[in-house]
Amino acid sequence: MKKAKIIGLGSYLPKKVLTNADFEKMIDTSDEWITSRTGIKERRIAADDEFTSDMGYEAAKKAIEDAKLKAEDIDIIFVATLTPDYIFPSTACLIQEKLEAKNAAALDIQAACSGYVYALSLAKALVENNTYKNILIIASEKLSSIINYKDRSTSVLFGDAAAAAVVSQDGSGLEIQSIYLGASGSEADLLILPAGGCKNPASEKTLKEGLHYIKMGGKEVFKHAVRRMQQAIEKCLKETNLSEKDISWLIPHQANERIIDAIAKRFEHLDNEKVYKEVVRKFGNTSASSVGLALDFLKKENKLKSKEKILLTVFGAGFTWGAAILENN
Ligand code: COA
Repeated sequence: MKKAKIIGLGSYLPKKVLTNADFEKMIDTSDEWITSRTGIKERRIAADDEFTSDMGYEAAKKAIEDAKLKAEDIDIIFVATLTPDYIFPSTACLIQEKLEAKNAAALDIQAACSGYVYALSLAKALVENNTYKNILIIASEKLSSIINYKDRSTSVLFGDAAAAAVVSQDGSGLEIQSIYLGASGSEADLLILPAGGCKNPASEKTLKEGLHYIKMGGKEVFKHAVRRMQQAIEKCLKETNLSEKDISWLIPHQANERIIDAIAKRFEHLDNEKVYKEVVRKFGNTSASSVGLALDFLKKENKLKSKEKILLTVFGAGFTWGAAILENN
């Protein structure tokens, strides 16, 4: 059996930049506080008339072009997002239409910030068992649409962006060697958008109580994120009989530089220079898009050498988490 490979990558960032200095004018915060607690300097904010499907479409076009394919070559589209344009129809269907990917089925995936690796896992399985030839995975988030910009404990953390990848059996690229996924619904309340679903449909009350904004227990989420991403890395290494010394690049979910540092500390043989942090510094936490952006930048900057192994690890609401090992071929 030939292993599934990522044969094309793409990403998209909206133009508007929101800096820490901008936040100093909006709420009681400082560049010093945000930088020392999170490492974040800037984030991008989508235009009022720019939505998750638009950003996802832009990233997808680039990934398909990078794979040297056409939209009609795509068999199925997965969109990982927690900020879909609508609850239904799926954002995947909206992007299928924009791309004119007329041979593609389409499906949204809800695994919050872990969505990119969850989508990658499904794509790997479906390609390797010959169900589909070319799968387009897209992560796209307009997090600015669910953020209360008066809440300093959450607003400074998040940004908007999209990333995409084409997974296929043919062609050269990043071979997906192993994927591990995990979930635990018992901590669902620690990171949640309380209203808008059937439990708390939109009402005067939900609006008044601000229940259409992200709610998060920051300190608790921090601890779970470090522990779960560490476990996911260990599981993925064990499954492939690899040690941390075999890993050239670690791309953890780009949520907070301190979370990334805490994970890196637990793997003493990993070269600190090869622990990726650029995305969180420049774009904040872009949820499902974050590791996809990092992967696209690494590849486009020609930083990946032949046969190098890249370890992605993710964590998000649910809680969900996971890790994937890719090899550059
Ligand atoms: N500017 C200034 N002060 C702020 C602030 C901001 N933007 N946000 C919070 N504070 C204040 C708090 O109000 C609190 O003040 P108090 O002691 O007077 O009550 C103080 O800073 C400390 O808050 P605390 O929550 O203890 O800070 P922290 O060190 O835990 O850092 C986070 C807060 C949110 C940065 C951190 O908990 C975190 O990153 N958690 C993980 C979040 C995450 O990545 N979520 C997504 C995972 S997918």
